[in-house]
Amino acid sequence: MEIPAGEIVMLVGPSGCGKTTTMKMINRLIEPTSGRIFIGDDDVTKANADDLRRHIGYVIQGAGLFPHMSVGDNIALVPRLLKWDKKKVDARIDELLELVNLDPGQYRDRYPKELSGGQQQRVGVARALAADPPVLLMDEPFGAVDPITRQRLQDELLRLQEELRKTIVFVTHDFDEAMKLGDRIAILQVGSQIVQYDTPEAILADPADEFVEDFVGSGTALKQLSLTRVRDVELHDAAVARVGADAREAVSAARDLGREWIIVLDDQDRPLRWVPVRDVERNGTLSSVTRDDDLEAVTLSSTLNDALDEMLTSSHGVVVVTGRRNAYQGVVRVETIMDAMQQLQGASSP
Ligand SMILES: Nc1ncnc2c1ncn2[C@@H]1O[C@H](COP(=O)(O)OP(=O)(O)O)[C@@H](O)[C@H]1O
Ligand SMILES: [Mg+2]
Repeated sequence: MEIPAGEIVMLVGPSGCGKTTTMKMINRLIEPTSGRIFIGDDDVTKANADDLRRHIGYVIQGAGLFPHMSVGDNIALVPRLLKWDKKKVDARIDELLELVNLDPGQYRDRYPKELSGGQQQRVGVARALAADPPVLLMDEPFGAVDPITRQRLQDELLRLQEELRKTIVFVTHDFDEAMKLGDRIAILQVGSQIVQYDTPEAILADPADEFVEDFVGSGTALKQLSLTRVRDVELHDAAVARVGADAREAVSAARDLGREWIIVLDDQDRPLRWVPVRDVERNGTLSSVTRDDDLEAVTLSSTLNDALDEMLTSSHGVVVVTGRRNAYQGVVRVETIMDAMQQLQGASSP
């Protein structure tokens, strides 16, 4: 099996088929009884095991953070082992917390138990990235969080990967997650046998055998919706205004667009909150709008399936789309998703 540098390869297969064992052989937590594993031109079985593990990030379910260490100390673990100087370590902690969307001032000194499951998982990713390893191993990292948080973590990973281009081996038993995140998917059967190793599109179009067919599952039209990204469809304009902007101008711009709600953005264009036009008019100001932590949004890398999910639980009939650094990009309408679905069905039926 060859894993191209800079790609995300998903190992997917039933429980007990050897996914975790495969990962642990890559970073030598388990030694293979036969065969060889190379990273670049180097045989890992000949490398110094400690040295090897410091250059491979490892993320596990539940994040595996040390409970008695602060978030910052958890992230700093490997850099300190590598004897980075204090200034560089401190700067790296803040940089990584920013990268995984946690405010450093707020989270650096907290303890893991003071964080939600999703936040702990983000810190787990930050810790794995701390020494900037070229390879990341992720073993069912998002298996223990609720579906909405999982979708956000997946989107964040895709956004990170656009910037970082790591070689990522990612284990899951969820085929939808494999399709969404994987450049390639290896479908494993009991005994770590590779039944099929290909792109998501190729596996969906031509499953290797009945086992893969079962695994891929039914509902192909909806699955196709998981292969189309938000960036591939047309975005629409919502009424938006920066926090602190002129309220009267914002109200009249929203009315011109025929909108009842305004999306208020912070000074870096990140969506803060949906505010009714009527409230803005009554208050006469946009300067006291706070962040709504439950604001539903997807990213350009999200699938149309994710967008549909968010839309079905939102009261706006559209879902907000963000791009790099979480900046506002536009909205997806339900009509856009319906159109895409019809086109996909048209393309896949004779
Ligand atoms: N290639 C293999 N040869 C022999 N035993 C294996 C192999 N791969 C996994 N196992 C054994 O199978 C069991 C489950 O493996 P594990 O990697 O934890 O599965 P998974 O992560 O896919 O659920 C473990 O006891 C492991 O030692
Ligand atoms: Mg496992």
